[in-house]
Amino acid sequence: MQGDIEKVLLDRHTIGKRIDQLAAQIIEDHDELENPGGNGDGGTEITLIPILTGSIIFVSDLIRRLPLRMQISLISVTSYPGTATQSHGATVEAALTKLPESLEGRHALILDDILDSGRTLNLVSNLVRERQPASLKTCVLLRKQRPEALQTPVDYVAFDIPDEFVVGYGLDYDDYYRNLPDIVTLRREVYAST
Ligand code: IMP
Ligand code: MG
Repeated sequence: MQGDIEKVLLDRHTIGKRIDQLAAQIIEDHDELENPGGNGDGGTEITLIPILTGSIIFVSDLIRRLPLRMQISLISVTSYPGTATQSHGATVEAALTKLPESLEGRHALILDDILDSGRTLNLVSNLVRERQPASLKTCVLLRKQRPEALQTPVDYVAFDIPDEFVVGYGLDYDDYYRNLPDIVTLRREVYAST
């Protein structure tokens, strides 16, 4: 597995430090939502909506830095089936999705690993918006430098990266490499052989 790595784009220490900053920002913004002008009722709760499977490592690291009362509702979306490295359009996998029928009175925060064509985030944002949360924010670990990604509205981005296919820290190629602790690109031969 290590021999398949071409280059390390973001190492684990860089990722960890940035997630510290991101968590601090989310906490600050959440406090502001709870107490706009200092007069809020403080009763609105947060629902995190992680998009499976790529966000699992990011989410597990982020939520342990968020001392907020929260519930987690998973949603599963497929867009890169198997060995594809181009998005094939986003579809929700109902069996792995646990979105409540209503999110009224809750602050929703959608979390994904990477913003590429924007289809996944748009699809999930619409599903969540239909459930009428008190507020809706979106957060991605990575955003690719391509027009579709840059035009997709998103509230929090941990890192902007070049328009390259990356794996590790939850991101996969053909469902492999998610367990690599760093975010890396793969050698050309890896794709040629599948
Ligand atoms: P979008 O719908 O095209 O924005 O793609 C988002 C989804 O595609 C992400 O949640 C990832 O699962 C997957 N994806 C996009 N780019 C990459 C990549 O470079 N490596 C691995 N997965 C990716
Ligand atoms: Mg994904």
